[in-house]
Order: sequence, then structure tokens, then C-alpha cells
Amino acid sequence: MSYKILPLISTEDVEKGIQQIADKIAKDYRGKDICLICVLKGAVFFMTELAKRIPEDIRVTMDFMSVSSYGSSTVSSGVVKIVKDLDESITGKHVIVVEDIVDTGNTLSYLLEMLKDRQPASLRLCTLLDKPSRRTREVQVDYTAFSIPDKFVVGYGLDYDQYYRNLPYIGVVEFDD
Ligand code: IMP
Ligand code: MG
Repeated sequence: MSYKILPLISTEDVEKGIQQIADKIAKDYRGKDICLICVLKGAVFFMTELAKRIPEDIRVTMDFMSVSSYGSSTVSSGVVKIVKDLDESITGKHVIVVEDIVDTGNTLSYLLEMLKDRQPASLRLCTLLDKPSRRTREVQVDYTAFSIPDKFVVGYGLDYDQYYRNLPYIGVVEFDD
């Protein structure tokens, strides 16, 4: 199948969006310690850029987890398998889950329920992109940089068949028909 990638959000705009989220987090968590949880692999670039913009009066730890949904690879089923769990306990900690994109909400609603059972002091969700029109399961998105239409996007960590994660901007994959 042939396709092309059309720019949607420039590097400059992505970075502005990340700075705005960092500013909100700085206000909301002043004087506290926070634990950022990166959902691999898509959120890697976003989380590192976000973490660098959080001021030093907030002490930050970073942990990583990898999940995959059972069933077909294109439609997330809502049943999530943990491929890599966190290294550290989150009990009693202020946790922010950092995701690349919330689409149907299946992955995140499952993941957040699972993390809630570990009894963090607080649990919030931060996503670079949000596709609210695709939602089939309700999830509370606490921080987001961009709401986007129902298009398949790549770049800044997001992939198409594992490629294009390294693009420094967000692009739409347009399939030729
Ligand atoms: P959800 O469970 O449907 O919300 O799926 C979320 C996951 O699907 C995201 O974490 C991404 O890994 C992937 N995903 C959803 N939409 C896109 C997209 O437009 N481009 C790349 N990956 C996507
Ligand atoms: Mg993801």
C-alpha cells in the first residue's frame, strides 16, 4: 500500500505544547515529589522532553512500562498484557502516567485501574495527543497538548508498523487509494 506523510503539528508547536503541560504540572505539584511513568515505546520522546521542563523544586523520578493489547494489533481490545512492569513501587507516590495518544481509551482505562490498585497517593494521566472522537471507554485525561481529528498520525514517538517514531514533528499518514 502506498502512502505519504503530511505534516500536522510542527516541532516548534509540539515543543510549545509540552512546555504548557510542564507549566501546569509545575503549578499543580509545587513542593511535591512526582513519579512519571512512561508507556513504552510511543511516549519516550514526549516524557523526556516533558521531564526536562519540570522545575527543580519538584523532584522527579521516571519509570517505564510496556503493555500490549491482546487480540488484533490494529484494534485495541481493552485487555492489556504487561510486557514490562515498573521497576519501583508506586504506593503512596504522586504518579503521572505519560502516554503518546489516547485513542479508544481501552489501553489507558485498563492500565489506570491496574495502577490504582497499587494505591498511589494520586494518579493522573498526561497525553501528548488526544483523539476524543474515537473514544469507546471513558478515561479522564488530566493533561493534553493537542486534540486531533480521527487520522492516523506518526512521529514524536508514534509509529506506523514501528517506523517513523524518530520524526521530530507529528505527521498524518495519508493512504493513496
Ligand atoms: P487505545 O487503547 O485505542 O486508546 O490505543 C492507544 C494506543 O494505540 C496508543 O498508545 C498508540 O500506541 C496506538 N495509537 C492509537 N492511535 C494512533 C495513531 O494515530 N498513530 C499511532 N499509534 C496510535
Ligand atoms: Mg502507546
